[in-house]
Amino acid sequence: MKKQFLLPTLAVLGLLFFQGTSKKTTDSENSLHVMEADMPANVKAVVDQKCYGCHNAESKNEKGKKKLDWDAFEASKRSKQLAAKGKILEVLENGDMPPAKFLENKPEGKLTESELATLMEWSKSKKK
Ligand code: HEC
Repeated sequence: MKKQFLLPTLAVLGLLFFQGTSKKTTDSENSLHVMEADMPANVKAVVDQKCYGCHNAESKNEKGKKKLDWDAFEASKRSKQLAAKGKILEVLENGDMPPAKFLENKPEGKLTESELATLMEWSKSKKK
């Protein structure tokens, strides 16, 4: 084989192999776990922008991180996630998050209508 064909050929083989393996995990129990842990990308995007700053293990917001740590949430079991989603839905319905005090200084932190809808729909779903 000529040298200039070697790399593309390897790339194609690699891709085929990758597809093969990723298909396999979809059928296994493993994937169920992965699917549960992964939040939909659109939800994650909103959370990262509007919630994560106060709700992670490193946050300076002591109260916020104690109440909810998104990394821990994502890693936790489905039953725990469902309970947490109930809480999340509650604060969203009440318009409690992000906290009004915080929004006084940072109005751009407020959830837009569509972001709110995205989070609400997700927190109502039992799936993940
Ligand atoms: C400026 C920091 C800040 C931001 C941003 C923020 N939170 Fe909070 N969050 C807090 C604090 C502080 C508490 C604790 C409130 C309390 O105990 O009175 C809290 C509590 C919570 C709770 C627990 C409520 C309970 O009673 O158990 C949930 C759920 C929550 N936040 C969800 C969210 C969501 C969803 C977002 C994004 C839309 C968000 N938070 C954004 C600071 C924040």
